[in-house]
Amino acid sequence: MDFKDIVKKRRSFRKFTEDPIAPEELQTILRAALMSPTSKSCRSWEFIVVDDKDMLYKISRCKAAGSEFIEAAPLAIVVLGNAENDDVWVEDASIAAVSMQYQATELGLGSCWAQVRKRMMADGTQSDDILRMLLGYSNSLSAVCIVAFGHPSIERKEQDESKLKWENVHIYEKPE
Ligand SMILES: Cc1cc2nc3c(=O)[nH]c(=O)nc-3n(C[C@H](O)[C@H](O)[C@H](O)COP(=O)(O)O)c2cc1C
Repeated sequence: MDFKDIVKKRRSFRKFTEDPIAPEELQTILRAALMSPTSKSCRSWEFIVVDDKDMLYKISRCKAAGSEFIEAAPLAIVVLGNAENDDVWVEDASIAAVSMQYQATELGLGSCWAQVRKRMMADGTQSDDILRMLLGYSNSLSAVCIVAFGHPSIERKEQDESKLKWENVHIYEKPE
């Protein structure tokens, strides 16, 4: 598949079959993250792969709403940034996350991003603190998102070329 087709095919998938992600597919997905660009090439992100059913359920409940779909995924990757040695850790972690999503699309897999940073439970507990408690990562790391991966159990339409917001693109013209 050309990259042109991959970007058209990529949609958020939240419903998956029971089929697991093959080890080689997982490695290819992680490879895309580890090859993604980072500021000053610091590569300080970290990734926690979760395929344990109980833990998938627990992390799917790390915020008040919007992450429940992780429960039914065969695998999820928690994407962490290191604010101590990367001033643009959010950007670096986000680029890695989306790189994995495009790679998953190329492999014929579905994925969906669940936002963690700035999200919380109804009682105000930060979602990142819940994940840190569940997964045991250090205080220097913070989760940006969890990306769930799996074999889609539903079809989704490709991106609609006619609905692209070309009006949001501005071409600078030098004043005469
Ligand atoms: C920064 C970011 C945060 C997102 N957070 C969530 C989320 O918490 N839960 C969710 O179900 N989808 C989440 N999504 C997926 C978006 O809802 C989805 O990308 C958007 O609706 C467009 O649909 P598409 O990905 O199928 O093109 C997030 C996407 C991004 C980029």
